[in-house]
Amino acid sequence: MKIAILKERASGETRVAATPETVKKFVGLGVEVAVEAGAGVTASVEDAAYAEAGASVGTAAATVKDADIVLGIQAPDLALLKGAKPGAWVAALFDPFTKKDVVEAYAAGGFEALSMEFMPRITRAQSMDVLSSQSNLAGYKAVLAAADAYGRAFPMMMTAAGTVQAARVFIMGVGVAGLQAIATARRLGAQVSATDVRSATKEQIQSLGAKPIFVENVAGIEGEGSGGYATEMSEEYQKAQAELVSSHIAKQDIVITTALIPGRAAPRLITDAQIATMKPGSVIFDLAVAQGGNVEGSVADEVVVKHGVKIIGYANTPAALPADASALFARNHYNFLSAFWDKEAGKPVLDEEIGNAIRLTQGGKVVNERLLG
Ligand code: NAI
Repeated sequence: MKIAILKERASGETRVAATPETVKKFVGLGVEVAVEAGAGVTASVEDAAYAEAGASVGTAAATVKDADIVLGIQAPDLALLKGAKPGAWVAALFDPFTKKDVVEAYAAGGFEALSMEFMPRITRAQSMDVLSSQSNLAGYKAVLAAADAYGRAFPMMMTAAGTVQAARVFIMGVGVAGLQAIATARRLGAQVSATDVRSATKEQIQSLGAKPIFVENVAGIEGEGSGGYATEMSEEYQKAQAELVSSHIAKQDIVITTALIPGRAAPRLITDAQIATMKPGSVIFDLAVAQGGNVEGSVADEVVVKHGVKIIGYANTPAALPADASALFARNHYNFLSAFWDKEAGKPVLDEEIGNAIRLTQGGKVVNERLLG
């Protein structure tokens, strides 16, 4: 059984899918691990550290040759997989709803594509969930980036020259990233408020010491929502939410938006007219910018200034924390494969629940229900 780790080639990608820690653990399972030279450099991992952990380090071709499993952050270009075993597994982010051509090409190439973003939200899969591990770091980084772009301080400061007011921070979308953003902004001393469409988040917001801002007159999503995910809201809800946000947002210094809906473009939460009501010097960080954006006018990896408000958003926020993001992603991969390890077979054997959820292609065909439906 051979596992291959290639250097990520997507623009702006700094992460790597294995660390010396996970290499060592795979070697402990009796696996041969190969890492492409330089794969860890952008995440502060040297080739020597992989070698010391028991991996062979070499060219891309040597790394992939006869591999049974290729682990990636983002799905590698098919050309790079030449030489891997027929039917090899490739576990990575596939962005399956937008990159259907890539999924089809994987099927035609005879590979078994395993989409890590389709990991089901069940308790036993929590430690394998890359969306959670990466969102957590993204929520933290979004606050730091916003604080950095903000021309004022976050905490209230009483100085001999007078008082500096605490920043008002509003978090829109309280999933994994939003909760971390609340906690981070609170630690920096801001006054924090937050909103979501799922009613279960209200208590979570309060327990972090922030103020919940909720649409009261139209029903949102009861409890957690299906599998923890939000759905598209009714027009009536969207209107009520827009009114609520309009009155609140004008008083905010920093707004962090994190709202996503799987398989759809991100919901538009802030319009240009609402931005115009904010004070000059305010900052908006749009964590959903790569999925179409929650904020009108946000552009990935650019600082857009509108009505004196800075609008920021990174195409790939976890990549701004490459070492930790890689460490967590690599553990997600290890937790996933090791949970299904069949000692006798010397390889992982997936069960139906998780296997069917994440498997995109098999036997030359696209097999995932969410893509076929
Ligand atoms: P996400 O990244 O899909 O969305 C972020 C947040 O935006 C969500 O809270 C969502 O409700 C909210 N949102 C969507 N549309 C909105 C709108 N129009 N206005 C305001 N907010 C809107 O969600 P994420 O962060 O991946 O997690 C959501 C939930 O799933 C959390 O409660 C989390 O604890 C749970 N979860 C459970 C896992 C497991 O059990 N294995 C793994 C990951 C998350």
